[in-house]
Amino acid sequence: MEKNFQPSSAYALKLDSQDKLASYRADFYISDLSLVYLDGNSLGRLPKVAIERAKQIIENEWGQGLIRGWNKGWWEAPARIGEKIAKLIGAAEGQVIVSDSTSVNLYKLTMAALALSPEKKRIVTDTMNFPSDLYILQGAVEQLGNRHEIIRIGSNDNELTPDLTALAEAITEDTALVTLSHVLFKSGYLYDMKQITELAHRKGALVLWDLSHSVGALPIALDDCNADLAIGCTYKYLNGGPGAPAFLYVSKSIQEKITSPILGWWGQNQPFAFDLDYSPAPGVARFLAGSQPMISMLTMEAALEPHLQAGMDSIRAKSILLTDYASSLTESLLAPFGFFLGSPVDSAQRGSHISIRHAEGYRINRALIEEMNVIPDFREPDNLRLGFAPLYTSFMEVWEGFQRIKRVMEEKRYKKYPKQRLTVT
Ligand SMILES: Cc1ncc(COP(=O)(O)O)c(C=O)c1O
Repeated sequence: MEKNFQPSSAYALKLDSQDKLASYRADFYISDLSLVYLDGNSLGRLPKVAIERAKQIIENEWGQGLIRGWNKGWWEAPARIGEKIAKLIGAAEGQVIVSDSTSVNLYKLTMAALALSPEKKRIVTDTMNFPSDLYILQGAVEQLGNRHEIIRIGSNDNELTPDLTALAEAITEDTALVTLSHVLFKSGYLYDMKQITELAHRKGALVLWDLSHSVGALPIALDDCNADLAIGCTYKYLNGGPGAPAFLYVSKSIQEKITSPILGWWGQNQPFAFDLDYSPAPGVARFLAGSQPMISMLTMEAALEPHLQAGMDSIRAKSILLTDYASSLTESLLAPFGFFLGSPVDSAQRGSHISIRHAEGYRINRALIEEMNVIPDFREPDNLRLGFAPLYTSFMEVWEGFQRIKRVMEEKRYKKYPKQRLTVT
């Protein structure tokens, strides 16, 4: 971490003046200039280009074109947009499609991977993975007759980082699948994709990466890492909109060997032949099941534009500076109030969010949202999670956010909120 960040607004302004991506902020719809938005890792801001495009999709393509849209780019949208995302995740052509939700894609690829080596009984993941991922694995195991065991490796440092020794030991010759979140949703720890994939391959296991917290935040090199399978969402750093369709990646090397557990007509070889029997479409398209939400999918396509223009290397460079800066402000401004960093100090091991931990994290989060016009989020038991989206988060916004957190602490504003959790935290 750069050690020389100065805790002053003049310094934040200086960092903004040196920021090569600063102009991208104007590409986003920002209606409230005093809002400090640090939750782009949960739901990205709205890119202006998506507003125009959504209007066009609804009025022209749906309103006027009606069913003709399917022959004017709708049908190909999952593959076409998949190729755009492929550029951001280091995948050569023909390996990525957009479809369904992250959870559903994880289910499809998990079932497909397990079917490939029915004799193997072990699935390896970690206790810090996103719970939906763990539930889906549990459901898959039940559906397959409880023949598999799920090994969840833990952490030796209060959920900051996974226990990599335990991970290496857990991956045995009997392991069918290793599935992990590339960046952990609480601490922001970033797995070394190449190293873990090699480790799994040495034992003959496939690896399925959940890229939800890394896609759009850092360069990913799926092909270069010899990854087998991956999934990810588009509504966080890719700014695709709430519930926008997710994507999945299947390496060319295994595409023809695996099949989706949901044999829908969109994944059929010739959907409009309306054959009575299923035969899979060639390649990754077989993982499509049925009709896709076109309004949301095409809006998300437009939203990708700023990312495609800016390039992942400059996005990563700014992301590291933002998280280093926020880590340094945690130390200088918030440590006296009992906050401590819940994320790796080394930026090479970190995604684009940090968690700052405090026993009163939940009530502090409520005070920030309800009276300070700051939006972070809270993750149990004590993580106040701060996300930094390099295309629109400015250093001044981060500085201002930390000033307001400090005020909540100085004035003990959190004390008036109940400890009982709201539905969405
Ligand atoms: C890492 C990770 N995986 C999976 C999911 C589930 O995604 P979805 O609700 O889009 O299926 C999320 C949601 O936030 C997530 O953060």
